[in-house]
Amino acid sequence: MQARPDRIEIVSDDLNFPSDLHSLAQSARLLDKGHRLRIVPSEDGIGVPAASFEEAVGQQTALVCLSHVVFKSGFRHDLAEVTRVAHREGALTLWDLSHSVGAMPIDLHAADVDLAVGCTYKYLNGGPGAPAFLYVRRDLQEQLANPLAGWMGRASMFDFDLSYEPADGIRRFLTGTPPVLSLAMMEPGLDLVAAAGLDRLRHKSVALSEFFIALWRSELEPLGYRLQSPGDPEQRGSHVSLGHDHGRSIDLALIDELFVIPDFRAPDNLRIGMAPLYTSFADVAELASRLSQVVVEGRYEKYRLPNGRSDAGPTVT
Ligand SMILES: Cc1ncc(COP(=O)(O)O)c(C=O)c1O
Repeated sequence: MQARPDRIEIVSDDLNFPSDLHSLAQSARLLDKGHRLRIVPSEDGIGVPAASFEEAVGQQTALVCLSHVVFKSGFRHDLAEVTRVAHREGALTLWDLSHSVGAMPIDLHAADVDLAVGCTYKYLNGGPGAPAFLYVRRDLQEQLANPLAGWMGRASMFDFDLSYEPADGIRRFLTGTPPVLSLAMMEPGLDLVAAAGLDRLRHKSVALSEFFIALWRSELEPLGYRLQSPGDPEQRGSHVSLGHDHGRSIDLALIDELFVIPDFRAPDNLRIGMAPLYTSFADVAELASRLSQVVVEGRYEKYRLPNGRSDAGPTVT
């Protein structure tokens, strides 16, 4: 907001990850000068078309912050188009790449993106607790300040002087000691992604998802599973979400009895992540067969909540 001092609004949507929205709302609150978070609602709970931002973004907008790929539905925003809309109004953009990095090529330079963040423990193979990353467009690096200033971001890191002179370039955004072991473990994971190549990974990711959606149509839709991701691969990331009235208990049965670990997201969403580096087409066929089995054999029944309470809701584990 300090980079756009005469503007008071941050624009996002209601499909963004809760942490993103919480931290944006908190930042607006801390600034305490009438700053606010404006949330563009999704009409179908799956995506928000780029055109909706034409209306929402204006001369009051300092920042547009969105998840490139939406964590629940797998909807993929048109990063270049939304960035263009934001820039036309003079706003900056911040993209959360957690669900797209490592699964597809992302050309931040071509789209002239200002800022991006993401986690490395999904398609970049970092494992739980792996470090996050920050991208700041080169010409912005000297204009922006790190609100969490720390010794590692100082110009002379090791003189431990009490004055704070930020380092040149991206290093000023460091704060303190990073988790060194986790960082070291990133290297082989990144090497694998680089060796496979992002174009090839995207190609396989789309093929896996299209295969899964074809199996959903023939075998799973008749069993009450609903597709809760975009049908068009151009609008999708690398995961496919299925809804079911018994989504919660299906999820528990799959984990406990059938060795499948989808994510469950309330109220009814089973999220199937297809990591193209190591998920095979045989895995996807087996997954569809177990999603079918859990319903046909009624395996989810014993995980249902007592007293006729709705099966849709947060997991109890
Ligand atoms: C889109 C998105 N952003 C941010 C996060 C939060 O990551 P972390 O828990 O590493 O802060 C997640 C976690 O899944 C996510 O899906």
